[in-house]
Amino acid sequence: MNKAEADRLTEEVLATYKATPDPRLREVMTKLVGHLHAFIKDAKPSFEEWMQGVEFLTKVGQACAPSRQEFILLSDVLGVSMLVDTVNHEAGEGGTDSTVLGPLYAENSPVMPLGADVAPGLKGQPLYADGVVRSVDGKPISGAIIDIWQADEDGFYDMQKPGLGADETELRARFRTDSEGRYYFKSIVPKFYSIPVDGPVGELVRAAEKGPIRPAHLHFLVKAPGYETLVTHLFVKGDPHIDSDAVYAVKPSLIVDFAEKPAGTPMPDGHKTPTAWRHLNFDFGLKAKAA
Ligand code: BEZ
Ligand code: FE
Repeated sequence: MNKAEADRLTEEVLATYKATPDPRLREVMTKLVGHLHAFIKDAKPSFEEWMQGVEFLTKVGQACAPSRQEFILLSDVLGVSMLVDTVNHEAGEGGTDSTVLGPLYAENSPVMPLGADVAPGLKGQPLYADGVVRSVDGKPISGAIIDIWQADEDGFYDMQKPGLGADETELRARFRTDSEGRYYFKSIVPKFYSIPVDGPVGELVRAAEKGPIRPAHLHFLVKAPGYETLVTHLFVKGDPHIDSDAVYAVKPSLIVDFAEKPAGTPMPDGHKTPTAWRHLNFDFGLKAKAA
C-alpha cells in the first residue's frame, strides 16, 4: 500500500464533505469516512473480498420485507444496536435500564384491557405479569402505554409463524396503566429462541461460529407524555443462555425472578389455572424528558 497516496485520498474525500450545510450530517459523514478509510487501510481487503462485502449487504437489503428487518438484525449481531442504546441512555437513579428494540416490534399492536390474556389457547406455562409504571421519583404514572411482545413456546414471534395471516397477532398487545399506574396481563412464560438464521445474517453467524440464541425474555416499550420512551426487555432468571445473548442485550438489572406458583394458587386477579404458573412482578421507572 502506498500510505501517502491512501492518506491523500482520505483527505480529498473528507474535503468534499466539508461544505455539507447540515452541521450534524457534516460531522457524522466526516467521522464515517474517516473510520471507514481507517478500516480499509487496516484490513486491506482484496477487490474480491470487497465485492463479497457488497454482495453480502445487497443480500441483507433483499432479505428485508415488511415483517423482516435484516439490517436491524445485522446491527444486533454486531453489537451496534446495543452500543447505540448504551451511548444514548443512562437510566439513572430510579430509572429502568433500556435495551435493544429488536426487529420484531410492530407499531400497531392490538389495544387490550388490563388483565387480558395475550396467549389464549397457546401451549406454555401460564404467566401473570404485573407492576406499576412510575417516574424516577416514585410517582405512579396513569395512562402510560405499555407495548409488550414475546415469542411462543417454540421460540416464534407471530410475524414468523407461517400459519398466521399478515394482520393476525399473537403474544403482542398494548395496555394503558390505570389511575394508580398499574399494568397487569396474562400470558405464557417465554422460552429462549434463535434469532432468524435463514438469511444472510444467519450465514454470517454460522461462519463466525457465534451462538444464535437469545435468552428467554419479554419485550416492553413504555411511553407516557413528558417522559422518555423506555424500550427494554425483562429476562427470565435462570435461563441457560443468560450469559451468551446473541445480541448482547442482557443487563443485570433486567434479569427478573419469574416466581413459580404451585397449581391451585389463584393469580392476583383471582383467575385459577389447573397447572403451576409464574408471576412476573416488575415496576418500571421512566425518566422525565429533558426540557
Ligand atoms: C428479539 O428479541 O426479538 C430480537 C432481537 C434481536 C435480534 C432478533 C430478535
Ligand atoms: Fe425477543
